[in-house]
Amino acid sequence: MKNLTIVGAQWGDEGKGKIVDHLCGKFDAVLRFQGGHNAGHTIVIGKEKFILSILPSGLIRNKLCIIGSSVVIDPIHLLNEINLLKKKKINISTNNLKIANNASILLPFHSLIDKAREKELSKKKIGTTGRGIGPCYEDKIARRGLKIYDLEDTNTLKTRLNNLINFHNIFLKSVSQKKISFKKTFKLLLSIRKKILPFSVNINEFVNSKLFFKKKLLFEGAQGLMLDIDHGTFPFVTSSNTIPATAASSLGLKPSKIGHILGIMKAYTTRVGEGPFPTELKSKIGLELAKNGHEFGSVTGRPRRCGWFDAVQCKKAINIAGIDFIALTKIDVLDNFEEIKICYKYKMGKKNIDFMPSSNKDLNNVKPLYKTLKGWCEKTTGIKNKRNLPKKAQKFIKVIEALLNVPIVYLSNGPERNDIINLKRIT
Ligand code: GDP
Ligand code: IMO
Ligand code: MG
Repeated sequence: MKNLTIVGAQWGDEGKGKIVDHLCGKFDAVLRFQGGHNAGHTIVIGKEKFILSILPSGLIRNKLCIIGSSVVIDPIHLLNEINLLKKKKINISTNNLKIANNASILLPFHSLIDKAREKELSKKKIGTTGRGIGPCYEDKIARRGLKIYDLEDTNTLKTRLNNLINFHNIFLKSVSQKKISFKKTFKLLLSIRKKILPFSVNINEFVNSKLFFKKKLLFEGAQGLMLDIDHGTFPFVTSSNTIPATAASSLGLKPSKIGHILGIMKAYTTRVGEGPFPTELKSKIGLELAKNGHEFGSVTGRPRRCGWFDAVQCKKAINIAGIDFIALTKIDVLDNFEEIKICYKYKMGKKNIDFMPSSNKDLNNVKPLYKTLKGWCEKTTGIKNKRNLPKKAQKFIKVIEALLNVPIVYLSNGPERNDIINLKRIT
């Protein structure tokens, strides 16, 4: 009975929410460990659709859910998301939702700074979600940001907020006339502190308590491995470490507690925002992938860029995350393609390489080399057993498995909760 960590192995939106929802019934708790409300994890149950940004997806199955210390939390957004889910009859209380009191607080001005910078950078922008994630992590690393426990004592809160706002206003004054209002921000925090604090726990004490120690844990990653601040396509990344190791550091747990690593991969590739994308298809095929896969960002509604499955990129993801098993999602999106391609190497100059170069300059210049497979041109949604999949779809899966040398244990063949084929029991 092992714990499990679920991470997206591409550039995000691989279907993590759906897989967490599928598996969490077998776990005692679901723990979100990084990122913020830049995430959008979708769970579809019949006609009902839930999109969770900051809350762990385990809440939909009424699991004990925990938000770790490496998450950046916009308290206003958090309360709104809780209310939205409650309206949809999801049970959320201080019994099933716990927040690390040393998690960072994301404030409204973080989002303003994020958006202003993106506007300023214009052609060199990152294409962020505009939710203030980068600026909030910057304040954390610079040791001036606020923590949830700062809400406990209003005097400390006043002093720390004042310092933080003063810092930003010195910069803002030099580039614009706009300043952040301490009074308004303080008032806002005073109005929500009593709603947030009951959810907060000393995470070290909580996860090491006797009651918690034996629980079977499912860690939920956000974003994708290629958006990792250190290993991703920097600077076109998010501002947190998305690798599974973060799960242990965020919760303050022994690293071996993260258990097996399940990497979620789409049967093709998508990315929102700017940055290198070797297999991107700017052609009709790319548009068809986007149309079939409804590839619009769950958070910003922006169209996602689409391309073929990239085994070179996924091999890097397997290495940096230590992926033990794969869930291959959205295979149904390929149902009506006569030809399907899988990138197995890159051509860089005169050389063929089977690794991802680190610099964007090199990555922007690689040419993907493809294996071309015949499409199955049949509907796969509704199929419950791998044997009943079209032979050509089985071959597609086999080729990916052989290239990556990691077992595919789940196949997702539709957005709905039950559109899934279990190939091997791993929990
Ligand atoms: P996440 O951020 O990794 O949780 O993924 P998102 O929820 O942002 O994006 C995945 C999208 O694909 C959502 O709209 C899901 O409902 C949908 N989805 C998930 N799995 C499948 C699948 O197997 N087939 C299809 N067609 N859609 C899927
Ligand atoms: P989930 O968890 C896809 C991308 C943004 C941008 C870059 C930096 O749903 O997979 P940020 O706002 O984090 O500073 O933006 O990261 N990005 C995501 N792309 N899915 C996500 O989350 C993302 N979260 C951030 O589009 O390119
Ligand atoms: Mg998403």
